[in-house]
Formats: sequence, C-alpha cells, structure tokens
Amino acid sequence: MTALPNDRPFYLLHEDKIQANLARIQKVKSATNCTVLMALKAFSHYQVFHLLAETLDGCTASSLHEARLAHEYFPGRHHAYSPAYSPRDFPEWTNYCQTFVANSLQQVEFLQHLQIQNKLEVGLRINPLQPEANNPLYDPSSPQSRLGVITKHLKNQWPKGVNGLHLHNLCENDSHSLDRTIRALERDAQFALEACQWINLGGGHMISKHDYDVDHLIQLIKYLQKRYGLKVILEPGAAVVWEAGDLHAHVLDIVAQDEVATALLDVSITAHMPDCIEMPYTPQIREGRITSEGCRYRLGGNSCLAGDFVGDYHFDHGLFIGDEVVFLDMAHYTTVKTHFFNGVHHPSIYLRHTDESYTCLKTFDYTDYQSKL
Ligand SMILES: Cc1ncc(COP(=O)(O)O)c(C=O)c1O
Repeated sequence: MTALPNDRPFYLLHEDKIQANLARIQKVKSATNCTVLMALKAFSHYQVFHLLAETLDGCTASSLHEARLAHEYFPGRHHAYSPAYSPRDFPEWTNYCQTFVANSLQQVEFLQHLQIQNKLEVGLRINPLQPEANNPLYDPSSPQSRLGVITKHLKNQWPKGVNGLHLHNLCENDSHSLDRTIRALERDAQFALEACQWINLGGGHMISKHDYDVDHLIQLIKYLQKRYGLKVILEPGAAVVWEAGDLHAHVLDIVAQDEVATALLDVSITAHMPDCIEMPYTPQIREGRITSEGCRYRLGGNSCLAGDFVGDYHFDHGLFIGDEVVFLDMAHYTTVKTHFFNGVHHPSIYLRHTDESYTCLKTFDYTDYQSKL
C-alpha cells in the first residue's frame, strides 16, 4: 500500500532505520569476522527477519517459542540461553538450536546428558561482577545476581566438555564498558578465556548510537581473537532496531484536575509501552518536549490503572481531541512486551519500506484478546 490506512493507533517500523543499524553492525562483522546473533527477546517481528538475516548470522532464543520462531523464519544457526531449562521442553529445543548456554553447573550437567544423544554445543554463562548498566533492574552482574556463575566458584577449573563462555552485563553501553569487562575477565577468569573456543559477549552494545566507537569495538574483538584464539559472538537486540519504530497515538479527551491537564490517548502506557513504567523512563515524543516553556500536558493511557500515564510534556500549542502524538524509539522491547490489559484496543503494526510504501504486519481484534485468556 502507498499510504497508511486510517487505522489508529499504530506502531510504525522503519525499514531504512533498521538497514542503517545493520550497516553499522556489518562494519564490525567485516572487520573482525565475528558472529552476530539477533536477541529475539528485544524484537521478534518474523515478518522482517529476511532483512535482518542479510547481516546477522542467526538468533539467540531465550525460550522454546523464540527458538521455534527463529528456526521457522530466520535462516542460520541459533543459540539458546535460558536461566533454567525445563525438562518439559526437551527434546523439542534441540530441533531448533544448536548451541545451548547453561546458567549454572547443574544446568551444564543437565545439558551434557542431552548432549550425548543430540551433539549439542554447550556454553556456560558467567557473571563477570562488572556492573555497567545504570539501572539495577538491568544489571545482571551484582554478586547476588541469579544470572551466571561467579568464576571464583569454579576454582580455576573450567567444566569439561563446555567449549564456550557467555556473559551479558551491558545495557545500552559504550565500547569502554566492554573494555572494562574484558579487563575484569582477565583479572578473574583468565583460565576460562584460555580453556574456551568461543566467547559470547552478550547484548547491550549500543553500536547503532551515532557516538558509539565502532573502531574501538573492532579493536577489542580482534584482541580476544588474537590473544586467546577465541571465536567472538555478539548478541545485540536493541542495537538492531534502535530508533527504528514509533507509536502513533491520538488524543481522545483532555481532563484537567488540580492544575494538571492530562491528554487521554487511544493507547495505554502500561499495555503498549510497558518499559516506560517498568524501567521507568519518559520517552521522547515527536511533537513536544519533556521540559520547557509552553502548554504542559500529562500524557495518559486509556486503561483504568491510576499510574497509566507518562511524564509531563510541553507543546508549542494547545492539544485538541483527534491530535496525533508520536512516541519515538518504540521498536525494541516494546511490541514483544505489549499485552491486553483492560482489553484495550491493541495498536496495529505497520512497516514503512525504503520506497515509502507500507505493509501491515499485524492488526488486532477481539479474538486476539479472547484467545489469550
Ligand atoms: C543474555 C542476553 N543476551 C542479549 C540481550 C540483548 O541485549 P540488548 O537488547 O540490550 O542488546 C539480553 C538482554 O536482556 C540478554 O539478557
């Protein structure tokens, strides 16, 4: 279709932005020959997997369903990492993924038992005890973290038959965070670096941000390849679809109480932008600013949750019923996390192609709400 239909509200994904992000990732791949996997937890629109697969080598799945989606729609080799695999999901997992990362030594044993029958490759996630994420909710490397084995507990012995080392301690970080992490590994886990064939440096590398030092990342990868003979794997999620989607909402009503004017939108913050409440953060919008002079509005969602609102924004002009408000950077960790709380109408999902035509990826109706329950 050449124009968006009058279908509101909707998410709009941008093919050109995805391609620009992939081009930055391709630069890293071309310079280092490293493997880059798509972390499906961040974004799993299988309808655009063909675009991602032009650059990325496969997926990393954190559940059986993600693994199956990768197998069905994404050509390549797929990895699995789950904090705890359930016996219920085996052997099906092994139809979809070739490499499994364990989160504990008990899980290594569990996977090695299966390995004999299925020729699986097994890795172990370690906790590098190198906190780099700004928000504790996204920091897996505290000493009490349930994610990954603390290397000193391995007593300088890397488990037999485990040929990969996995870590994930970054969240929207720069290359210097990775640099510090590699130094922490060399301090505490040199034996692991020497024992393994591959290292998976997890996600959280904000490669797509304009000020990310891609050349520094390339240097770090080359260092690990040369110094330890390691095959290097990255598994970014957010960086692949960074700033590659918006949520288009519309004003349904305006209510003013106690000097606060709230524009009630046809979307819900908790249902359609859950990270804004969970993280929490205040997203950028196309029309207004978060702080400045002008007409101030609180943007509220259409569920009955009292906290279903996001920030106060200033607009150059008053808002009116029917006005559009566009929330920016709503591709990563957004459409994968939405839900049907209150049965509120779920935004449709469109893709804008580079030739400015549109494809509808998904619309939602009563049956989606009803069939989930
Ligand atoms: C194990 C693992 N790998 C990769 C990722 C992807 O991280 P990001 O989307 O920040 O790049 C995550 C995110 O939580 C993760 O937990």
